[in-house]
Amino acid sequence: MNLSSLRWPLLAFALLFVPFNVHGQSTRWTVGMSQCNLGEPWRVQMNADIKRAGEAHPELKVIFKDAQNDNLRQAAHIDEFARAGVNLIIVSPKEAAPLTAPVADAFRKGIPVIVLDRRVLGDQFTCFIGADNKKIGRAAGRWIAKLLGGKGNVVELKGLMTSTPGQDRNAGFREGIKGTGVNVVFEADMKWLEPNARKEMESALARFPTLDLVYAHNDPAAHGAFLAAKATGREKKILFVGIDGLPQEGQMYVKQGILSASFEYPTGGREAIENALAILNGKPVPREITLPSRVFTKSNIDAGGEWLSN
Ligand code: FRU
Repeated sequence: MNLSSLRWPLLAFALLFVPFNVHGQSTRWTVGMSQCNLGEPWRVQMNADIKRAGEAHPELKVIFKDAQNDNLRQAAHIDEFARAGVNLIIVSPKEAAPLTAPVADAFRKGIPVIVLDRRVLGDQFTCFIGADNKKIGRAAGRWIAKLLGGKGNVVELKGLMTSTPGQDRNAGFREGIKGTGVNVVFEADMKWLEPNARKEMESALARFPTLDLVYAHNDPAAHGAFLAAKATGREKKILFVGIDGLPQEGQMYVKQGILSASFEYPTGGREAIENALAILNGKPVPREITLPSRVFTKSNIDAGGEWLSN
């Protein structure tokens, strides 16, 4: 007997016939949370935020699944949640195109779906929650142009360009530096991963004797670039800017002087649970919820950063 064939009947059983949460309290609703990977601190934080917010509501049971950065696995998770009859699905997709159909299928079956952080295509979901990545990219571009006195050679380490935050952080940044003397002399897709960023930065360092700054689409990549520069003794001549701004990651790098700035990208975990409860209670929620973002720099970090304006 193939054990994997038992997977979804067992899940359905657990979801539907064991109406208790981790504290043994009886629950009313089961929420399936599909996370695209747990290999990065930011995603671990998102799940922790969801867990904490969920635990404040004994009527809710949240079941987590980790797709380990695999679109097919994530699609299967969404399908399993839908077939098991969860009351609501929260999904933070890996890539837009491959996750669009499974999300739409669950939604059409009548299961409310909250899409968190990265988008899917079209409109077959209940609500999207995330920060404005274009705005963050634009703010980073303007901030960097000012920091460099209007000119310089910049490396752009891009997030996965088939995911929407990568596309928006790139487009916004290009808008932000438009008309200035800031030039992107090297760009590469590091797929959100620190080891890739480090490798790409090694190439950039080998090709360009003068680099002024690295704009990385996330803090792990900014850190990878810093390590590559350090290995060639050039880390003090180059500035590094990242995105995410977790207290234990980007904010810490700013305090340590590794990053000049980190732009906050809130996980939206708490907001996902708040809106899940509203939906389950039959209350209307907006189609799109845009979370605010801050910039952390050495001079503002002790005061809690500075909110981005429009
Ligand atoms: C984690 C991550 C974050 C980034 C977000 C974008 O997987 O790469 O660092 O801000 O995803 O979706």
